[in-house]
Amino acid sequence: MSESSLKICCIGAGYVGGPTMAMIAKQCPDIEVNVVDINESRIAAWNSDSLPIYEPGLDEVVREARGRNLFFTTDVSEKIKTSDMIFISVNTPTKTFGIGSGRAANLEFVEKCAREIALHAEGHKIVIEKSTLPVRTAEAVKRILNSASNGSASFDVLSNPEFLAEGTAVTDLLNPDRVLIGGESQEAIEKLANVYGRWVRPDSIIRTNLWSSELSKLTANAFLAQRVSSINAISALCEATGADVDEVANAIGTDSRIGPKFLKSSVGFGGSCFQKDILNLVYLCEHFGLPEVAAYWEQVVLMNDYQKRRFSTSIVKTMFNTVSDKKIAIWGFAFKKDTNDTRESAAIYVCRDLLEERARLTIYDPKVGLDQIKQELIYLMSAEFGTLSEKHRKLIDDNVEVANSAEAAASGAHAIAVLTEWDEFKEVDFDAVYRSMKKPAFLFDGRNLMDREKLSKIGFEVYATGKS
Ligand code: NAD
Ligand code: UDX
Repeated sequence: MSESSLKICCIGAGYVGGPTMAMIAKQCPDIEVNVVDINESRIAAWNSDSLPIYEPGLDEVVREARGRNLFFTTDVSEKIKTSDMIFISVNTPTKTFGIGSGRAANLEFVEKCAREIALHAEGHKIVIEKSTLPVRTAEAVKRILNSASNGSASFDVLSNPEFLAEGTAVTDLLNPDRVLIGGESQEAIEKLANVYGRWVRPDSIIRTNLWSSELSKLTANAFLAQRVSSINAISALCEATGADVDEVANAIGTDSRIGPKFLKSSVGFGGSCFQKDILNLVYLCEHFGLPEVAAYWEQVVLMNDYQKRRFSTSIVKTMFNTVSDKKIAIWGFAFKKDTNDTRESAAIYVCRDLLEERARLTIYDPKVGLDQIKQELIYLMSAEFGTLSEKHRKLIDDNVEVANSAEAAASGAHAIAVLTEWDEFKEVDFDAVYRSMKKPAFLFDGRNLMDREKLSKIGFEVYATGKS
């Protein structure tokens, strides 16, 4: 396999597979990169002008490489057959059934990929775990590949977890803090390292054994989420004592051992990774007979649940203990700015709580529409009760609407809740918004995004996380 004739296939054209492969194709014009998926509409969107995911800078990267050496197709078997390296980048959600339900990772899709590769592979293949997986999954992948294959193929398995964050995926991929490659075959590790080596500094490419690589990914996400839960825990104490959480974060973040990043108090972390990966870690600890370690990490998730609930409870309490039939403007529904991803967004939980209090919600998010919002609420409310009750369907249908701007959402509202830190929310004409609202005009800032002093001067009653 000479490097210049390399062919790469990536199974899974999602938030990771799409951008990651687009970056490899952009940086390595001589390598053919095929991204395959069973989801036809997703592949069609990758081949269109309207990509299935929103990421700043991604359109340009895809436009440069697509059709040249970057291809999106549903022809999974053909691309497995013709590729030298096969990335597995499929979803690994939390199991919702059976053993480990609510904690363990559902590995069904990964196992199906391994079986598909075994079925169609010919010659030597390097199979790369890009999905986030429980430690020792590579053992199962290797066994499936070797036992289910027709004998005309051989395999090396590598672990190469992805560390990009949504909203900054393109810059993260272009300038990664590190690329991690775990494996047993030095030759396979070096082949993959050479691909990244085209644009990543050599000392940023870390080589480990398989299990360290798999576990490092779960551990990195657990540490990051732990920082958010830690500062959110302190935000509750700040509210009770008169301390200011941003001032505390700044004061501790200047300690070079602590560092300033990931200390922004919020309505709670969301996204498809943090909760899922910590629960997976908790499950692994329990599995390996380490209940104290499991309980330690589980508390990060419990603190996050507390923070989301604390925010919605504080809205109800502050608004004279009732939000029933009151219009509340929800600014932002994505789990963070600069993405259209709403998976596990704190906004879903806050909206659910407010709907149960019979509030009327008008939601504005620059990248998220009504169907997606309703889908998330239906998913959450059905997951809790087994099926979606008539009562909950009616709550959603009658009380959730979207507006086409932040100002329009706030017009006639009793309160604004800021749930995503979109930059455009800072640019709103707050004098006009104040005039258009019912009084007292409440603003609950779940992201500490707003200038509290300025808004208070206009007349808003401002409540912000971690500020008394
Ligand atoms: P995703 O749901 O956006 O995409 C997964 C894709 O895999 C889907 O399009 C699905 O149709 C496809 N798929 C599933 N089974 C398939 C099969 N058998 N054959 C072909 N296609 C199949 O998921 P994602 O957010 O891209 O995450 C993928 C993995 O990367 C997960 O393990 C996740 O934990 C990890 N990860 C995600 C992020 C992130 O920011 N989203 C970051 C780092 C790591
Ligand atoms: C995370 C990891 O950062 C990334 O390395 C991994 O590959 C995937 O999971 P992502 O979930 O895309 O990335 O976004 P991230 O920036 O980590 O934010 C996660 C959540 O934490 C968001 O809801 C964000 O708003 C919240 N957050 C983050 C805070 O509330 N405060 C912070 O200081 C940082």
